[in-house]
Amino acid sequence: MDARKTYQLGEPVHALDGVSVDVPRGSYTAVMGPSGSGKSTLMNLVGCLDTPTSGSVFVDGADVGAMNDRERTRVRGEKVGFVFQTFNLMPRLTAVENVALPLVFRGVSKDERHERAASILERVGLGDRLEHAPNELSGGQRQRVAIARALVNDPALLLADEPTGNLDSETGANILDLFDELKAEGNTLVMVTHERDVAERADRIIHLLDGKIERIEAVGDLEGRQHDDESAASEREGARGDGGAGGRDADVGGDGS
Ligand SMILES: Nc1ncnc2c1ncn2[C@@H]1O[C@H](COP(=O)(O)OP(=O)(O)O)[C@@H](O)[C@H]1O
Ligand SMILES: [Mg+2]
Repeated sequence: MDARKTYQLGEPVHALDGVSVDVPRGSYTAVMGPSGSGKSTLMNLVGCLDTPTSGSVFVDGADVGAMNDRERTRVRGEKVGFVFQTFNLMPRLTAVENVALPLVFRGVSKDERHERAASILERVGLGDRLEHAPNELSGGQRQRVAIARALVNDPALLLADEPTGNLDSETGANILDLFDELKAEGNTLVMVTHERDVAERADRIIHLLDGKIERIEAVGDLEGRQHDDESAASEREGARGDGGAGGRDADVGGDGS
């Protein structure tokens, strides 16, 4: 993506002031920065929840800015899993119904919805909580339901805005272990965090400041390979072996400057 996002509230606010970033398929990116630096705005653009004021955002090769709301909603539903800081679960639905919800909009049959939702809840360690309502679950369990819901469509891209921010350290560690597994399976992850040790679980850290990328820091075992994102991505793509239809890169860019 190469994009700029300006909010007009009397004074214009440049929430993202010309940010150019590439999210290769299979990569794991952390986003850090002070409050108000544009982290959520960046996630909303990459996740097709919003469109840039100028510049462009490409997801899987398609220009999100050129789509109408309906198309953008469809791309989001098919390709993006979003984990919000506040979970956003439906209070009257059980865990398994919450997780199955995205499949309703895709015309998946009721039995299959239940089956897929139950299996992904098992995956996140909640196989024994399928019929619990959100208010019958702990904060960490709710977060895992939200992650299961984000994963149920098998999204090309998983976005998480402070996924461990509201969790005790043990539950947070479990979520991060789950992300490691997802990464090892070839999924693409972008996560916002305030915690340095959490960010270091990713391949690289994008540091935002005042709506700009201050620097991109390579961490972990990808160090030294970061110079060549594309070859690293295709290596991993090859290792994953499913090929898939079209690229799964999210490519977000600003208007230069
Ligand atoms: N919907 C909005 N309308 C107006 N200004 C907004 C809106 N969303 C965010 N902003 C402003 O854009 C800037 C970046 O916000 P945000 O991306 O939420 O930062 P962060 O997630 O890093 O805390 C802030 O100055 C914020 O006040
Ligand atoms: Mg935010």
